[in-house]
Amino acid sequence: MRKILATALLCTAAFSTAIMAESERSRSSVATPALWPKVQNPVAEDPAIEARIKDLLSRMSIEQKVGQIIQGDLASTTPEDMYKYHLGSVFNGGNSAPGGKQWAPAPEWLADADRFYDASMRPHGNLPLIPMTWGSDAVHGHNNVTGATLFPHNIGLGAMRNPELMRKIGAATAVEMRVTGLDWTFAPTLAVVRDDRWGRTYESYSENPEVVASYAGPLVEGLQGKVGTKEWLKGAHIVATAKHFVGDGGTDGGKDQGDNISSEEELRDIQAAGYRPAIEAGVQSVMASYNSWHGEKMHGNKSMLTDILRGRLSFGGFTVGDWNGHGQVAGCKTTNCPAAFNAGLDLFMAPDSWKDLWINTVAQVKDGTISQTRLDEAVARILRVKLRAGLFESGRPSSRPLAGEFDKIGSPEHRAIARQAVRESLVLLKNEDAVLPLKAGQKILVTGDGASSYMKQSGGWTLSWQGTGLPDSEFPGATTIGKGLLDAGGQNTILSKDGAYREKPDVAVVVFGEDPYAEFQGDIPDLIFRDKSDNLELLRKYKSAGIKTVAIFLSGRPLWVNHHLNASDAFVAAWLPGSEGGGVADVVFGKSDFKGTLPFSWPKLATQYVLNVGDKDYDPLFAYGYGLSYAKPGKVGKLSEVSGLAAGAELPVGTWFERGKTALSLDFYRAGANDLEKLHNGIGTNGDFVRSFAVDRNRQEDSRRFLWTGTGEATVALAATQPLDLSRETNGAVAIEIDYRVDAISGGPVKIAGYNAGLKPAGSGLDVTSRLQSEQGKGWQTMSIALSCFAKAGLDMSKMQIPLSIRTSAKLDLSISRIALGTSTNGTVACP
Ligand code: BGC
Ligand code: BGC
Repeated sequence: MRKILATALLCTAAFSTAIMAESERSRSSVATPALWPKVQNPVAEDPAIEARIKDLLSRMSIEQKVGQIIQGDLASTTPEDMYKYHLGSVFNGGNSAPGGKQWAPAPEWLADADRFYDASMRPHGNLPLIPMTWGSDAVHGHNNVTGATLFPHNIGLGAMRNPELMRKIGAATAVEMRVTGLDWTFAPTLAVVRDDRWGRTYESYSENPEVVASYAGPLVEGLQGKVGTKEWLKGAHIVATAKHFVGDGGTDGGKDQGDNISSEEELRDIQAAGYRPAIEAGVQSVMASYNSWHGEKMHGNKSMLTDILRGRLSFGGFTVGDWNGHGQVAGCKTTNCPAAFNAGLDLFMAPDSWKDLWINTVAQVKDGTISQTRLDEAVARILRVKLRAGLFESGRPSSRPLAGEFDKIGSPEHRAIARQAVRESLVLLKNEDAVLPLKAGQKILVTGDGASSYMKQSGGWTLSWQGTGLPDSEFPGATTIGKGLLDAGGQNTILSKDGAYREKPDVAVVVFGEDPYAEFQGDIPDLIFRDKSDNLELLRKYKSAGIKTVAIFLSGRPLWVNHHLNASDAFVAAWLPGSEGGGVADVVFGKSDFKGTLPFSWPKLATQYVLNVGDKDYDPLFAYGYGLSYAKPGKVGKLSEVSGLAAGAELPVGTWFERGKTALSLDFYRAGANDLEKLHNGIGTNGDFVRSFAVDRNRQEDSRRFLWTGTGEATVALAATQPLDLSRETNGAVAIEIDYRVDAISGGPVKIAGYNAGLKPAGSGLDVTSRLQSEQGKGWQTMSIALSCFAKAGLDMSKMQIPLSIRTSAKLDLSISRIALGTSTNGTVACP
């Protein structure tokens, strides 16, 4: 008996160790090379180049070698710095351009490229001369340069499913870079984005790894040229960067720079899908990712940067870090990080930290923290790419092919490629009764806050990092979507800024969507579209006037827009098309048919952030691959307007009424004796017991004034189309905050209450009579009513039909400017 028990115990112990080992492994940040099929690198090492590398290494000083492995940002690095610290490269971040500006015209870039080149070629005694290279985020065209062709962002390109066009886009981008003397781009992004809340979703071609894999090769070849040809990396071509290695599109919660917790197999099959074809096409640089994998930052992950990337994927170029990304490695600072270098990062991107990093790294080579061998290995990789690209022979940037041919920046040929890409990227989500194509002779009105906005149609990484704050004058040669429609529509088409018209049009085209953002600034909590302008109101207004409505939606990701879809007869997902807005008119007017299909699944609920083709319970509104066309029409019908989020989610989180607007699922009502009557826009200037008017607090008509006449009891209520579930909010300190002003009050009582259905009372409500009396004539106030007061009164907080009402028979003049959920205790009303 005893023996049996002992064996059983032993078995259990062994078993649990095995289980632990298994779960350790799946949570480990150490890769298993055997899981990765070996890739064949097409670029053989050239003995002549290898001999030159050997010779150079033998003549270089430690200081000079360390200079090769560190790059600073243009805003913090001068040609003099490059000379003094032997820096081997420079780059410009999204906000830096020559002359300390955020963006600049092409000639200034070329002049700066020469200045840096000259600094790199100025002799230091007998040290060998090593030409510098310049990296730039040419991620949708040469987008930091004024007047450059701006191609659609990657998400739109993914909708085309046209790898051959990717090759042309790469080639055109390389030419525009060459004109300015730049020879290295930080593109393509090969992220396979799985949680669309990520602010970089638009930099991803698709949620489907196959699409990303099918684009990686042609784009790299377009940028770099074909391996084995004389033009590879030279002439009209440049060096490309596959980024961000690896796992960037699969972070937990869709958080920028977050933690990827997927298994190694998922990482390989989904997130890394684009790297194999990129390497097979000869990509010469790979950027390490900001994200972690199971808690360890990629910049310090030796098994991924070295064992997998080099050992299994056979990458033969150099790795570059992301913007101070090394500083996030455990134990590192932006100015001190041997760990990343020793893990396999060859070139630090150290925008503003480069100088101290250089000083520390030189010391670390001298004291052995970094070995000579590792330093030589990294420098050799960088030199190899420079030699392959012919930098040692091609002279000053301005003397190289294409340099200074400024008419190639935004040339008609390049714009034609971009316009084709725009045409092919549009996805037709809805087209009831064949409203599209627009027909000759129709009276067309074009409006919406995206109709005349270069910024909205171009998105982030356009002239500035975020793509915001740009004057129209910085887009010479570009065409807005509205202008394209005007040109195509002729005299029957008008562009109306505010949406008003004199003569009733047949069709209204409303162009609207997200405002630009980049990286973490674009992370969002859910997928509801938070519109900052009145586009929905416009669509609804036209519809009720019998005008056909066409929505052109600009966005960096699929978003929940069912209200807008319902208010539109036709709806086009146009993504972020870039400078050639005319491509929209080509298709909308029927010169070409729609060709784009969804590269990302479109959500049925705003809570479907992680919604990807192949999911177990896949239930999208529009599936991956969906897209109507003139040849293949379809009917959408009326969609549910239940977003899955609390009412008001489309306003700044938790807002029920602000700036004159109620949340989409809430409306103001009034009731005399009994019947609830909806107040259109919260306004009802007639009526016996209570009237309401639009009044100004901070801006025009941002508030409502409710006037109880004192002739009978009457209620003003905020009621929901679908009962709200406020049970979660009721658990904490959440209150309904009301900003209001009492101009007159006589009589009483005044009671505040909520209701589950109709105006059936639960409890007797909160009496605020004496408080309002004391505040009469004292200006704007705030009161907070804890949701728990309603729960205590016996309401079912999961089914709130009327989350707020005010009832009185007093004569009361009360204005309200805001109603929102919040946690402030400003003017708390005690529960009865
Ligand atoms: C981004 C990279 C980019 C780099 C240089 C980083 O913040 O993550 O994609 O290449 O900045 O601008
Ligand atoms: C730079 C970007 C960079 C970002 C990183 C910005 O200031 O312009 O290129 O990606 O900082 O946070």
